[in-house]
Amino acid sequence: MSPAPAFRPLRFPDGFWWGTASAGHQVEGDNVHSNWWKWEQLGLVNDGSRSGRACDYWNRFGEDHALLRALGMNAIRLGVEWARLEPAEGKPDSAALDHYRAMLEDARRNGLRVCLTLHHWVLPAWLADQGGWEAPQALSAWERFVERVVRALGDLVDLWVTLNEPMVPVIAGYLAGYHPPCRRAPLAAGRVFERLLEAHAIAYRAVPAGVPRAPDGGAPMAGFAGAYQHVEPYHESGLLRLLEAPLARLLARGSFGAWDQSVLRGRVAPPFGFGRTIPGLAGSTDFVGVNYYMRISAHLGPGTLSNVKGQGYACPPGIEQTEMGWQIYPPGLFHVLDSVHRSFRKPIWITENGCADTGDDVRRRYLAMHLAQIHRAIATGCDVRGFLHWTLTDNFEWREGFEKKFGIVALDPADPELRRTPKQSAFLLRDVARANALDADAVARHAPGALAPWPLAPGFR
Ligand code: FCB
Repeated sequence: MSPAPAFRPLRFPDGFWWGTASAGHQVEGDNVHSNWWKWEQLGLVNDGSRSGRACDYWNRFGEDHALLRALGMNAIRLGVEWARLEPAEGKPDSAALDHYRAMLEDARRNGLRVCLTLHHWVLPAWLADQGGWEAPQALSAWERFVERVVRALGDLVDLWVTLNEPMVPVIAGYLAGYHPPCRRAPLAAGRVFERLLEAHAIAYRAVPAGVPRAPDGGAPMAGFAGAYQHVEPYHESGLLRLLEAPLARLLARGSFGAWDQSVLRGRVAPPFGFGRTIPGLAGSTDFVGVNYYMRISAHLGPGTLSNVKGQGYACPPGIEQTEMGWQIYPPGLFHVLDSVHRSFRKPIWITENGCADTGDDVRRRYLAMHLAQIHRAIATGCDVRGFLHWTLTDNFEWREGFEKKFGIVALDPADPELRRTPKQSAFLLRDVARANALDADAVARHAPGALAPWPLAPGFR
């Protein structure tokens, strides 16, 4: 019997990318020449851990790629680590570059299209010691690194992410001070913001200059991946909502809006800069990478500061939170996609989405609900081309260490074998990827009740 119309499967466009995302430092292990490695040795990670051998992806990539293939995935997002490729200033490591080549070749042999991130927050320690992005030679060192990677790996990469969530180093590294270099220096934050815009423009230029053709024979595509949140006033109505609205606008502008405006217009946008034009910046993105995890509720009072500090977020009653304390708010993804689509008019890839959940129950519901919202965005005209779940294996979650588990595959860093054990959420994603659709049976099997009534639960419009 065919399903009742109310339960019609949510089909995704042909050729849609289904995969997972990671960052080198969080999974490879032994990124010993990096600033993060050095910082971890100070014992500042919340759960006392260090990245150490992480998931040993550096050596076990073959196993992970085979697993992705077995799970029906057709894409992977991964990163290269600058500190591995240039462990000492001016002394590139060619064996490391060959190793990355072998990694990408293996991904392709497993039928995975490749999205490669050039920079995911981590710097070589030698550059960090000279002032990181503020160092006078940072941009020339970056250009040298990017050109080398693009030349060596370009034929294997479908989609280039220049910078991952560039606002995180600005805010967490230079304003709130909880990521290295752990400073609270607004002027430096402004300088780093500008530098990162310049770095993005350099990489955006370097990709087509160094890659004659993408693996599909077309032109290579490059863009950035932004940390997008859906920001709203905490209160649903009344005077407080009116008072909170400007704060919500400010938070949105500070956390991603200023970056987007700068890329669109080619000039450094306030509050981080005063309109300086950056050559090659205007319109410098072939696609937008959307990393979406949560809604942020702008709250006047003590909650406001905690928003800025990135922890202890204000959360309206009745809204579920993940183990990171992040609000689970699937329609926020729809709104973000809609607004990115309206501002950029470019293809969009969901380059990250997922949740910290030790038990995996929340993750399964989270996944189903967010996929339904992506479908909703596509149905209203957003050109979304793929979904890369954060992440495949539980891994090193920066300042939170190994305690926060985002994987659809369990991995215990204390296990000598570092065994990979798929969780039920992996089977949900597998069923969706295989069918290129989210169907009510798969949801009933793997995440019962998540989309009842089908497909958008009440309150999720
Ligand atoms: C994003 C990061 C990614 C991961 C997830 C949970 O902000 O880009 O590396 O830590 O959060």
